[in-house]
Amino acid sequence: MKGIILAGGAGTRLYPLTKVTSKQLLPVYDKPMIYYPLSVLMLAGIREILIISTPSDTPRFKELLGDGEEFGVKLSYKVQPSPDGLAQAFVLGKEFLGGAAGAMILGDNIFYGNGLKELLFKAVADAENGRATVFGYRVSDPERFGVVAFDKNGVATSIEEKPKNPKSDYAVTGLYFYPAGVSEIAETIPLSDRKEYEITTLNEIYLKRGLLDVQLLKSGFTWLDMGTTDSLVEAAEFVRTIEKRQNAVLFAPETIGYSNGWTDEKRLLSAAENYGNSSYGKFLRAFAEGKVF
Ligand code: G1P
Repeated sequence: MKGIILAGGAGTRLYPLTKVTSKQLLPVYDKPMIYYPLSVLMLAGIREILIISTPSDTPRFKELLGDGEEFGVKLSYKVQPSPDGLAQAFVLGKEFLGGAAGAMILGDNIFYGNGLKELLFKAVADAENGRATVFGYRVSDPERFGVVAFDKNGVATSIEEKPKNPKSDYAVTGLYFYPAGVSEIAETIPLSDRKEYEITTLNEIYLKRGLLDVQLLKSGFTWLDMGTTDSLVEAAEFVRTIEKRQNAVLFAPETIGYSNGWTDEKRLLSAAENYGNSSYGKFLRAFAEGKVF
């Protein structure tokens, strides 16, 4: 199982914040946005990860994250020449996947909740056994998202991209797991009316073949997509509240790599050193010394 983080897009909805930098490099409280989706893939046990971004931003991501050694993962990079839709990630990532099953997470999505790891493990196992998984989350503004509808037995019946009249309140979140062969299917997708290769079209194909599971994220779970200034602040407030209350740092890839047994204490301490006197660096040091969890 390999993973892709799609961190492209012009980020125009956040202008002028994103005029000279990528949305996914903006701060979300104490760390850059991309640390959150990177952590989710690592929690799923995925170690080979491709980061896809724009021609101008890809070098910045490389500068920030390097080859992933600090986190115990192998990172590679690919440029998306123009933002032509989420499904294009699997076309651009075809060589990287090399016939393996593939997960994709959007670079501006945060997932947090009890049992997240178990949900991720199940999605990985199912993808390796030929079934795709997407996650549904109840929202008040479904028309902004991909929307999944269900029959009375709770079986998914349709997925529509940004419908004017949504058939349900369940948004499809930006985390997708597909079996081997996903790139070949993504290559067949036509451009949509808004001239994008839609991830929703890819999901519809799996749904029609009876190969798509929709897992609902229960209430108590938090999903945030940080596409607007309000949701960006909301995410930062959320992370700050939980971190203060738990005296922990949420989604630090260095601690996840360590907990997964992919790095050792020496690597953790050297990462802490690189972050200097920041609260994040201090946390990594305390974590390595077993003082926080
Ligand atoms: C994209 C997808 C949409 C999905 C959303 C999740 O929307 O097209 O199906 O629900 O991500 O964040 P966008 O962020 O491109 O508007």
